Amino acid sequence: MRILMVCLGNICRSPLAEGILKHKVRQNGLDWTVDSAGTGSWHAGELPDRRSIAVARKYGVDITDQRARQFQAADFDRFDQILVMDTQNQRDVLRQAQHDEHRAKVQLILDFIYPGQDRSVPDPYYDDNGFEEVFGMLDAACDKLLKQQ
Ligand code: 4NP
Repeated sequence: MRILMVCLGNICRSPLAEGILKHKVRQNGLDWTVDSAGTGSWHAGELPDRRSIAVARKYGVDITDQRARQFQAADFDRFDQILVMDTQNQRDVLRQAQHDEHRAKVQLILDFIYPGQDRSVPDPYYDDNGFEEVFGMLDAACDKLLKQQ
Protein backbone atom coordinates (compact mmCIF):
# COMPACT_ATOMS: atom_id res chain seq x y z
CA MET A 1 0.00 0.00 0.00
CA ARG A 2 1.28 3.47 -0.93
CA ILE A 3 -0.46 6.40 0.73
CA LEU A 4 0.00 10.13 0.16
CA MET A 5 -1.35 12.69 2.67
CA VAL A 6 -2.16 16.10 1.18
CA CYS A 7 -2.93 19.54 2.67
CA LEU A 8 -2.30 23.12 1.55
CA GLY A 9 1.15 23.97 2.87
CA ASN A 10 2.52 20.50 3.80
CA ILE A 11 3.78 21.95 7.07
CA CYS A 12 0.91 21.51 9.56
CA ARG A 13 -1.71 18.81 8.89
CA SER A 14 -0.32 16.40 6.29
CA PRO A 15 3.09 16.04 8.03
CA LEU A 16 1.18 14.99 11.17
CA ALA A 17 -0.92 12.55 9.14
CA GLU A 18 2.23 11.12 7.54
CA GLY A 19 4.04 10.80 10.87
CA ILE A 20 1.07 9.24 12.67
CA LEU A 21 0.40 6.67 9.94
CA LYS A 22 4.10 5.78 9.57
CA HIS A 23 4.27 5.23 13.33
CA LYS A 24 1.25 2.89 13.28
CA VAL A 25 2.47 1.08 10.16
CA ARG A 26 5.78 0.39 11.92
CA GLN A 27 3.99 -0.79 15.08
CA ASN A 28 1.94 -3.20 12.95
CA GLY A 29 4.99 -4.54 11.12
CA LEU A 30 3.62 -3.51 7.72
CA ASP A 31 5.64 -2.57 4.65
CA TRP A 32 3.81 0.51 3.40
CA THR A 33 4.99 3.67 1.70
CA VAL A 34 3.64 6.82 3.37
CA ASP A 35 4.44 10.35 2.19
CA SER A 36 2.87 13.82 2.23
CA ALA A 37 2.65 16.89 -0.02
CA GLY A 38 0.99 20.31 -0.23
CA THR A 39 -1.11 21.71 -3.05
CA GLY A 40 0.83 24.98 -2.62
CA SER A 41 4.57 25.47 -3.09
CA TRP A 42 5.24 28.33 -0.62
CA HIS A 43 6.79 26.11 2.04
CA ALA A 44 8.65 23.64 -0.19
CA GLY A 45 11.87 22.44 1.45
CA GLU A 46 10.82 23.54 4.93
CA LEU A 47 10.55 21.51 8.12
CA PRO A 48 7.04 20.92 9.50
CA ASP A 49 5.60 23.78 11.57
CA ARG A 50 7.16 23.81 15.07
CA ARG A 51 3.68 23.36 16.60
CA SER A 52 3.14 20.16 14.58
CA ILE A 53 6.59 18.93 15.58
CA ALA A 54 5.75 19.64 19.25
CA VAL A 55 2.35 17.91 19.36
CA ALA A 56 3.72 14.89 17.48
CA ARG A 57 6.67 14.65 19.87
CA LYS A 58 4.27 14.79 22.83
CA TYR A 59 2.69 11.55 21.54
CA GLY A 60 5.97 9.86 20.69
CA VAL A 61 6.01 10.60 16.95
CA ASP A 62 9.11 12.22 15.40
CA ILE A 63 8.38 14.19 12.21
CA THR A 64 11.62 16.17 12.01
CA ASP A 65 12.91 14.08 9.09
CA GLN A 66 10.17 15.52 6.85
CA ARG A 67 10.56 18.37 4.35
CA ALA A 68 7.65 20.03 2.56
CA ARG A 69 7.07 19.44 -1.14
CA GLN A 70 4.36 20.33 -3.63
CA PHE A 71 1.84 17.80 -4.91
CA GLN A 72 2.39 16.91 -8.58
CA ALA A 73 0.26 15.07 -11.13
CA ALA A 74 2.82 12.23 -11.18
CA ASP A 75 1.77 11.44 -7.60
CA PHE A 76 -1.45 9.91 -8.96
CA ASP A 77 0.60 7.04 -10.39
CA ARG A 78 3.05 6.81 -7.50
CA PHE A 79 0.39 6.24 -4.82
CA ASP A 80 -2.63 3.95 -4.31
CA GLN A 81 -4.55 6.36 -2.10
CA ILE A 82 -4.39 10.15 -1.89
CA LEU A 83 -5.89 11.30 1.41
CA VAL A 84 -6.74 15.00 1.46
CA MET A 85 -7.29 17.04 4.62
CA ASP A 86 -10.09 19.34 3.39
CA THR A 87 -12.53 19.94 0.56
CA GLN A 88 -10.34 22.69 -0.95
CA ASN A 89 -7.41 20.25 -1.14
CA GLN A 90 -9.84 17.75 -2.69
CA ARG A 91 -10.81 20.21 -5.45
CA ASP A 92 -7.19 21.27 -6.08
CA VAL A 93 -6.01 17.66 -6.38
CA LEU A 94 -8.96 16.47 -8.47
CA ARG A 95 -8.38 19.33 -10.93
CA GLN A 96 -5.03 17.68 -11.78
CA ALA A 97 -6.51 14.20 -12.32
CA GLN A 98 -6.44 12.94 -15.88
CA HIS A 99 -8.88 10.02 -15.65
CA ASP A 100 -11.27 8.19 -13.36
CA GLU A 101 -8.60 5.84 -12.06
CA HIS A 102 -6.80 8.90 -10.65
CA ARG A 103 -10.01 10.44 -9.28
CA ALA A 104 -10.91 7.20 -7.49
CA LYS A 105 -7.71 7.42 -5.42
CA VAL A 106 -8.68 10.75 -3.81
CA GLN A 107 -10.53 10.67 -0.51
CA LEU A 108 -11.09 12.99 2.46
CA ILE A 109 -9.13 11.50 5.37
CA LEU A 110 -12.02 12.13 7.78
CA ASP A 111 -14.23 9.86 5.64
CA PHE A 112 -12.64 7.03 7.62
CA ILE A 113 -14.29 8.21 10.84
CA TYR A 114 -17.21 10.31 9.50
CA PRO A 115 -18.21 8.53 6.28
CA GLY A 116 -20.35 10.51 3.85
CA GLN A 117 -20.15 13.75 5.84
CA ASP A 118 -17.55 15.60 3.73
CA ARG A 119 -15.75 16.72 6.88
CA SER A 120 -12.51 18.70 6.70
CA VAL A 121 -9.58 18.70 9.10
CA PRO A 122 -9.49 22.34 10.32
CA ASP A 123 -6.43 24.32 9.25
CA PRO A 124 -4.58 25.03 12.52
CA TYR A 125 -2.07 27.47 10.96
CA TYR A 126 -3.66 30.53 12.59
CA ASP A 127 -4.75 28.72 15.75
CA ASP A 128 -2.04 27.65 18.20
CA ASN A 129 -4.62 25.66 20.16
CA GLY A 130 -5.86 23.71 17.12
CA PHE A 131 -2.94 21.31 16.82
CA GLU A 132 -4.01 19.02 19.65
CA GLU A 133 -7.49 18.54 18.12
CA VAL A 134 -6.01 17.96 14.67
CA PHE A 135 -3.65 15.32 16.08
CA GLY A 136 -6.60 13.52 17.70
CA MET A 137 -8.67 13.50 14.51
CA LEU A 138 -5.78 12.23 12.39
CA ASP A 139 -4.87 9.58 14.95
CA ALA A 140 -8.46 8.25 14.93
CA ALA A 141 -8.67 8.34 11.13
CA CYS A 142 -5.35 6.47 10.75
CA ASP A 143 -6.47 3.80 13.24
CA LYS A 144 -9.60 3.23 11.17
CA LEU A 145 -7.67 3.23 7.90
CA LEU A 146 -5.36 0.47 9.20
CA LYS A 147 -8.29 -1.62 10.40
CA GLN A 148 -10.00 -1.38 7.02
CA GLN A 149 -7.07 -2.66 4.96
P1 4NP B 1 -1.28 23.08 6.26
O1 4NP B 1 -1.40 24.52 6.94
O2 4NP B 1 -2.03 23.18 4.95
O3 4NP B 1 -1.96 22.18 7.23
O4 4NP B 1 0.19 22.83 6.10
C1 4NP B 1 -1.03 25.71 6.32
C2 4NP B 1 0.28 26.09 6.30
C3 4NP B 1 0.64 27.30 5.72
C4 4NP B 1 -0.32 28.10 5.16
C5 4NP B 1 -1.64 27.69 5.16
C6 4NP B 1 -1.99 26.49 5.74
N1 4NP B 1 0.02 29.32 4.57
O5 4NP B 1 -0.88 30.07 4.17
O6 4NP B 1 1.22 29.64 4.46
